[in-house]
Amino acid sequence: MVEKTLIVLGSDHGGWRLKEAVKNDLLARGYQVLDYSRPDPEPVDYPRVGKKVARAVAVGEAERGILFCGTGLGMSMVANKYPGVRAALCHDEFTARMSREHNDANILVMGGRVLDERTGLKITRIWLDTPFAGERHSRRLSQLAEIEKENLKHS
Ligand code: RB5
Repeated sequence: MVEKTLIVLGSDHGGWRLKEAVKNDLLARGYQVLDYSRPDPEPVDYPRVGKKVARAVAVGEAERGILFCGTGLGMSMVANKYPGVRAALCHDEFTARMSREHNDANILVMGGRVLDERTGLKITRIWLDTPFAGERHSRRLSQLAEIEKENLKHS
């Protein structure tokens, strides 16, 4: 059997339940999963978890990551501070598809207090299965990378 992509996951308490549902679905579909979340839904500050997932994607330890918090906003802010990370907060099937086709997003972010489980699972499947469309979008991603080079400090 061909090994499936490694997906790194992370949630705070606001996204924990949705993260569990997504994790179980990914495991059932044969993905390798590495979960940086607490093992329970006790409160944890989202930057503490988000940074581990964003770092793993930024340094190439994992190709894709999925982050969850209450709204998805805090985790998006954390992840997009990492070089090479394109984190997309998705609310529906359309934003999930576009985030891959147009933005080549490598981290999906969802709000556990925004989405029901069914929608979260659907978004995740679409996001994982949709390829980047390339062409004119590649030019725009190069421009994004330029902005990153000008503004992000690389240590
Ligand atoms: C935690 O209460 C909440 O602030 C967090 O889950 C997230 O929504 C932050 O953006």
